[in-house]
Amino acid sequence: MAEQKNILSEIKDGILYLTINRESKLNALSYKILEELNNIFNEVNDNRSIRGVIITGAGEKAFVAGADINEISELNEVNARKFAEFGQEVFQNIESSHKPVIAVINGYALGGGCELAIACHMRVATENAKLGQPEVNLGIIPGYGGTQRLTHLIGRTKATEMLMTADMIDAQEAMRLGMLNYVEPTKELAIARAEGILSKIMKKAPLSIGMIIDCVNAVYEGAGSGFQIEANSFARCVKSEDYREGTKAFLEKREPNFKGE
Ligand code: COA
Repeated sequence: MAEQKNILSEIKDGILYLTINRESKLNALSYKILEELNNIFNEVNDNRSIRGVIITGAGEKAFVAGADINEISELNEVNARKFAEFGQEVFQNIESSHKPVIAVINGYALGGGCELAIACHMRVATENAKLGQPEVNLGIIPGYGGTQRLTHLIGRTKATEMLMTADMIDAQEAMRLGMLNYVEPTKELAIARAEGILSKIMKKAPLSIGMIIDCVNAVYEGAGSGFQIEANSFARCVKSEDYREGTKAFLEKREPNFKGE
């Protein structure tokens, strides 16, 4: 496994452990980190020493608190579409990996962090986890597949509420909604739970596991246009004054004043 700068990786007993390692910014996903994730997942399928993957965030506070808002605040319509399409590609790469991928959500999983978690095949959270899609606070929308995956995962009713209100939900509520497989008191126990799931899967026929992943993902067939509409809408958002105001307000640590233009 090639070494990456912002993601710690270690293979042990058939499991690839990935830690998004940017704790001072709550593991916010920079473009560089997305590229690193992509490099890693390009290798995962062909690496025979990997039978499963666990992704978590460094520290105790956050899994990933979103895409990097500093980078998001400087987008134009053209590169915003590319930004969304690249993120969608990386997360699709994770979702279509033939090795089972489990997110261990050790704190905030917001925006792109929630999108990353729901692109994984399963999720185990710690009790302090908080999940949400707060993009509308910034004058944008999710762009890494969140509008599509969340709706598939928990249904239109609650997905629409989460996407429109930007409310964060706690681990118990996420469990109730079907976003999580398990909730554990600590990160250590959440990792142990994910290892337990993977150790069961690792005793099964690897080809069958890959095919289960393909078949479960077939739920998205025909939904291709939904992902495209998301990337186009994301790009349209960044033409607005509200996008400038929303991202600026976050960086200036104040409430945004949206005008609808
Ligand atoms: N992008 C860039 N930087 C981020 C970030 C993001 N998505 N999320 C957090 N950070 C940075 C903060 O700017 C801060 O940096 P600083 O210490 O240099 O000022 C640092 O991480 C710690 O975050 P802070 O906001 O001080 O922690 P908090 O405990 O007060 O609040 C959150 C935690 C998660 C509620 C808050 O950080 C937040 O709302 N983050 C953005 C979530 C979001 O909108 N994500 C979607 C992006 S598309």
